[in-house]
Amino acid sequence: MSATVTIDYVSHTFRGHREPTLSSVDARIEAGERVALVGRSGCGKTTLLQMMAGLLLPSEGVVRINNRQVTRPNARWNLMFQKACLYPWLNVRENVRLGCLFAGRTEGMEDRVDRFLELVGLGDRRDAPVQSLSGGQQQRVALARSLSLEPELLLLDEPFSALDTFTRGALQDDVAQIAADQDLTMVLITHDIDEAVAMADRVFVMAQNPGRVLGEEPIPLAFPRNRHAPEFSRVRERLMHRFEAASGLQSGNEAAETPSADTQPPPIRRAV
Ligand SMILES: Nc1ncnc2c1ncn2[C@@H]1O[C@H](COP(=O)(O)OP(=O)(O)OP(=O)(O)O)[C@@H](O)[C@H]1O
Ligand SMILES: [Mg+2]
Repeated sequence: MSATVTIDYVSHTFRGHREPTLSSVDARIEAGERVALVGRSGCGKTTLLQMMAGLLLPSEGVVRINNRQVTRPNARWNLMFQKACLYPWLNVRENVRLGCLFAGRTEGMEDRVDRFLELVGLGDRRDAPVQSLSGGQQQRVALARSLSLEPELLLLDEPFSALDTFTRGALQDDVAQIAADQDLTMVLITHDIDEAVAMADRVFVMAQNPGRVLGEEPIPLAFPRNRHAPEFSRVRERLMHRFEAASGLQSGNEAAETPSADTQPPPIRRAV
C-alpha cells in the first residue's frame, strides 16, 4: 500500500526568526508517486520533509497523509538520512531487526528482515559486523531497516550524497526499482540533478527567501532509466534550466526568470 501526501498552504517560521523559512507551500503527491525536491541549500527542503515525517508542525497550513493531518511520527512514514545511523556493536541483521523492535512491528519480523536484506543485496552479509561494511553497504542496511517496516511512504534526505559515483548510481537504480515493486510513495531530497532524473516521476524545484515550490518538472521516462539515452539528457537539461531560473530569481537576477525562446522550458505548473 502507498500513501497520498497533501501539503496544504504550509508556512513555517522558526522561533526567533523574523522571516518565514517556508511560505505557502501547496502540493499533492499521489499514491505510488516518486517525487524529488531540489533547491539551493537552506531553501527549506529538510524542514518540509520533517513536516511530512511528523517531526515538525507547520506554523500555518496542514500536511496530510492519506487525508489525515500529520501530527507525530509514524512507522508507516519512514525517514532515511544521509548517514546510515547504525549501531556499530550490532551485526547487519540485528540492526535491521532493531528498526522493527523500536516500531513494535514484531509480527513476522524475522521473515521480513531476511527478505529485505536479500532485496538490498546483503543476504550473504547478514551476520557481518556493520563496521566491516563499506559506506554504500551500510546505507543498504539502513534501507533494509526502513523497508522492513513496510512503510507506505519513504522519505529520503540526501541518502546517497556521501557515496562515490558508482555506488550512488547502483543504489539510485535499486531504490527506484524497489519503490516501484513495493508500490511505495517516495519523496527524495537531492542536490544532484542526475539523481532526480534517475529516480523521480516529478521534481519540485524550490526557491528560498522564503522557501517555496517555484515549479515542477515531470520526468516522463520509463524505468529502468538509461543515463546515456538522449531523452535522459534532454530532461536533465530542462530541469537544470528550471533550477537555474529558480536560483536566478532568489539571487535577484531577473534575466534568469525569462529564459531565451530556444531553451524555454514548458510553463510552470503549480504543484496543487
Ligand atoms: N530547528 C531549527 N531552528 C531554527 N532554524 C532552523 C531550524 N532548522 C532549519 N532552520 C533554518 O531553516 C532554513 C532551512 O533549513 P533546511 O534544513 O530546511 O534547508 P535545506 O533546504 O534542507 O538545506 P540543505 O540543502 O543545506 O540541507 C535554514 O535557514 C536553517 O538555518
Ligand atoms: Mg537539508
